[in-house]
Formats: sequence, C-alpha cells, structure tokens
Amino acid sequence: MLTWVPTEQVAEALTGFPGVTVEVVNADAGAPLPASAAEVEFYIPPFFPRPASIAAMRQMPRLRVVQTLTAGIDLLRPHVPAGAALCNARGAHDAGTAEWVVAAILASIRRFPYFAAEQAAARWSFRFTGCLAGRTVLIVGYGSIGAAVERRLSGFDVEIRRVARRARDGVHPVADLPALLPEADVVVLLAPVTAETIGMVDAGFLAGMKDGALFVNAARGSLVVTDDLREELRTGRLNAVLDVTDPEPLGPGHPLWAMPSVFITPHVAGSTPVSARAALDFARAQLQRFCSGQPLLNVITGEY
Ligand SMILES: NC(=O)c1ccc[n+]([C@@H]2O[C@H](COP(=O)([O-])OP(=O)(O)OC[C@H]3O[C@@H](n4cnc5c(N)ncnc54)[C@H](OP(=O)(O)O)[C@@H]3O)[C@@H](O)[C@H]2O)c1
Repeated sequence: MLTWVPTEQVAEALTGFPGVTVEVVNADAGAPLPASAAEVEFYIPPFFPRPASIAAMRQMPRLRVVQTLTAGIDLLRPHVPAGAALCNARGAHDAGTAEWVVAAILASIRRFPYFAAEQAAARWSFRFTGCLAGRTVLIVGYGSIGAAVERRLSGFDVEIRRVARRARDGVHPVADLPALLPEADVVVLLAPVTAETIGMVDAGFLAGMKDGALFVNAARGSLVVTDDLREELRTGRLNAVLDVTDPEPLGPGHPLWAMPSVFITPHVAGSTPVSARAALDFARAQLQRFCSGQPLLNVITGEY
C-alpha cells in the first residue's frame, strides 16, 4: 500500500507498518509528479497545500484516504475525488491555537504591541491599559478549539458566551449573534470556512460590536470582509488581532499593516511543535486504523 507524505518528518512518523511504502512527494515543490501517483491510496498533503498538491489527487485513481495535518480542510474538500475519505486533524491544533487566542487577547488588552514599539525606541512610556478580568468573551464557532480557549480562560474571571451552528446546552445558535455581539468585549472567531461563514464578519457584524471591543480572528481570512474590517478599524472604534487575513499573505503595501488598532501574525496560531507532534501522532493512528480495517476518525461528511 503506497502512502505519499509531504516531508521527511512526516515519513519518519509513519515508519514501521508492514506492507506500507511511504514516499516523500511534495507536488508544490515544482517537480513533475512521479508515476507512482497511480498507486497512492493514503495521501497526506502539505500543511499549506498549494494548487499542484491539490491537483495531484486527480492523478491518484486508487486514492482511499486524504489525511490533512490541519483542522481546516476548506482548500482540499472540493477537490477530493469520489471514493476517497477526507479526514482532518481536528483536535491536534487545540492547544497551540487556543494559546494563541489567549495570548492575542492579553497582548491587545494589555497593549503589548505598543510597549514593544516603545521598547524599540528606548522610551519608558508609562500608561494605564485595559484588563481582561470582568470582560465578556464571545466565541463564534464553539468547537474543538473554542472549548480549548474556554478551558484556558477559566482562571481569568471572564464571562464566556458561545455560538455554534447548532444550538445546544450553553451554546447559542448563529441567529442569536445580533443580540450577543453588542454585549461582548472580545469576539473570537473560530468557525470553519463554509458557504454560510464566508464573509460573515461584514459591516453589519462589526457595527453590532460594542465601542472599544476587540475582534480576534484565528479561523480563516475569508470569513471576514477585509474592506469592511479596515473601514471599521480606520475609525478607531474597534481593535483587532488577526492570525489570518484575506488576502493571505498580505502584500507589503496592504493598508492593514499600517493600522495602529490591528496586530497581525502570519497564520502561526496552530504552528507549534506541540501541534505538529499531535498532528503526526494522529496521522500515524489513522494510517494504523486504515491498515487494520478499523473505522477512520475525523471523516468529513459535510462542509467541515
Ligand atoms: N489560525 C490557525 O493556525 C488555525 C489552526 C487550527 C484551526 N484553524 C481554523 O479554526 C477552525 C475551527 O477549528 P476546530 O478544530 O475548532 O473546528 P470544529 O471543532 O469543527 O468547530 C467548528 C465550530 O464552528 C461552528 N460553526 C459552523 N458554522 C458556523 C457558523 N455559521 N457560525 C458560527 N459557528 C459555526 C461549528 O458548529 P457545530 O458545533 O454546531 O457544528 C463548530 O462548533 C478550522 O476550521 C480552521 O479553519 C485555524
């Protein structure tokens, strides 16, 4: 059984299965696709798949499983051939991404970007800052990572409100957003990319947020209408911390870079050794399940 993986590190994580051949192929690197594509049954695409590694699936007539190392599968999902299961690494990125969210909230409220700039200029610039205690944090997309954020915020004396697609105990449906947004001091976006969520953070969403509130995007840039966010940030009414943007990457002259009310990181929330290890362990466990005929986990049956 042939498995294609994107790096040597992934190959090392998948050693030792009798009858399984692991080849390192990253179609995005530009080399012609090896003829062995015709034999691939288990495919792990690169962490940030580009068009060539996505199109490579069309050359894999025996493909049975596409296992991502990421939680988000929006780029791959429309291109997975019929007959192949798409599985994500939901759960593997909870710790890394949830930590980033907490760091983003604290850094923004306690004005770390401002103090970092003052340090760079060797200026002792005393000032009061905000404080997270007593604030209301609204998690929009209360799934695996959202729950990990809540666990991490449990010692910060905050009130958590949760929104998911389906209402359940303690979790509001999306329809409640207009009532919840004006009450939140911090809005954390963690929803997946779906037909419903693309562009969901638009002028109306942002206008619903209270003055001085913080918007944190750890999901995907396409969930936000960038021009609407930029317009709202330009007035200084809101602050934002963005790990993901649309477009991504942001070009050098993009207006978001220069806005004092936004702090940007380059899609790094889930990129930690802990997340990478967990994703590799999960991929190995999935290969084990596939080889032994056990049901796979994290099989994507809908949009996420
Ligand atoms: N920045 C990074 O480095 C990074 C790292 C990892 C993941 N991510 C992003 O984070 C996303 C979430 O990951 P996860 O593992 O937490 O996924 P998950 O466990 O599947 O949770 C997604 C949650 O979003 C909810 N949702 C779906 N549609 C919604 C809508 N229209 N409005 C509000 N909520 C909606 C779902 O509701 P139900 O529970 O009702 O289905 C679910 O609770 C991923 O899709 C990925 O794009 C980013």
